[in-house]
Amino acid sequence: MTRLLVTGAAGFIGSNFVRRALETAPHLRLIAYDALTYAGNLANLSDVLSDERLTFVRGDICDSDQLDALPQVDAIINFAAESHVDRSIMGSAEFVRTNIQGVHTLLEYARRTNVSRLVQVSTDEVYGSLGSTGKFTEESPLAPNSPYSASKAAGDLLARAYHETHKTPVIVTRCSNNYGPYQFPEKVIPLFITNRLQDLKVPLYGDGLNVRDWIHVQDHCDALLLVLDKGAPGVVYNIGGGCEITNLELTREILRRLDSDESCIERVTDRPAHDRRYAVDFSRISSQLGWQPEIDFAEGLSATVDWYRRNEAWWRAVKDGQYLEYYNKQYAQR
Ligand code: NAD
Ligand code: DAU
Repeated sequence: MTRLLVTGAAGFIGSNFVRRALETAPHLRLIAYDALTYAGNLANLSDVLSDERLTFVRGDICDSDQLDALPQVDAIINFAAESHVDRSIMGSAEFVRTNIQGVHTLLEYARRTNVSRLVQVSTDEVYGSLGSTGKFTEESPLAPNSPYSASKAAGDLLARAYHETHKTPVIVTRCSNNYGPYQFPEKVIPLFITNRLQDLKVPLYGDGLNVRDWIHVQDHCDALLLVLDKGAPGVVYNIGGGCEITNLELTREILRRLDSDESCIERVTDRPAHDRRYAVDFSRISSQLGWQPEIDFAEGLSATVDWYRRNEAWWRAVKDGQYLEYYNKQYAQR
């Protein structure tokens, strides 16, 4: 049995990871730890909260006393972060706090408690922006362009330094854009799907020709489970979907699945310092750990549109703010 601390477990990828780990890794016992910021939603875990292999704890990764009060764990995977680029442009203090100070606090906690592994979930955005050719490798220079990606890069560098200096067994993963169930509808795919379900226009930034490399969240979670099990400490692993598409093409794919046409697109002012293109070379994790993405983008996107259609109560509660009451109603009184 391995006791795994999953920080940021009530967010989009963290909650998908918890569900996938319970389904596919019977040796794991999980502590799901989350501060429940605006992005954390216990409804994301509602179907697994009663699982006897899972314990939920509300806590902040910047708070070492809260971490020290947890039972001893064998390994940690850190999803806790401020994750939205546009919010980091509006104000970046929380990004510096959670994505840098929080990672530092977790690294110190990992040292104190001698865990066998800490996986720091990072992003391809730390590499900055590509021109029309080439891909990010793990050797690409770090050149973040937003306060969000700069704070993630700082966390990655602290992780690297702790491995070099203190031999902390930390592994950094850098993944491309995820999509799938339970994604907060501030990110482009769930925002556009739910806007159309509400008969609203979809706001496309700039010329719409920025390129992202999309991966289904389940493929990302499977890669992370493999890295936890077989990854080498001190190593960085890129994770990608091998699916590059412009935002305009993506928008058309979403609209087509929702019986909408291009008159539903509202062209809006571009994001400042908007990265033009991301594309990830994930040959290291493929050749060394045998991972590759399994979910075809067209099928994954159709399934995701269906999920948001079927789970209207979930996204409506998020969009109107009702979800913020969920913790108090469903959990705190137990
Ligand atoms: P998210 O915003 O949906 O979830 C973040 C979670 O962290 C929330 O549950 C929030 O409550 C929690 N949290 C925030 N601050 C905290 C703190 N101080 N202490 C404890 N919990 C805190 O984010 P996501 O999209 O699930 O991303 C998870 C991780 O994956 C992030 O590190 C992000 O940088 C990385 N990532 C995301 C993507 C993507 O496409 N979404 C791609 C690559 C990497
Ligand atoms: O690459 C990994 C990153 O992917 C993660 O590290 C981030 O946490 C995650 O948020 C995501 O960042 P992006 O900025 O790429 O995702 P977002 O969904 O915000 O935007 C995707 C693209 O769509 C981007 O080019 C901006 C554009 N966009 C976004 C929104 C919200 C629009 O055109 N309109 C919008 O309303």
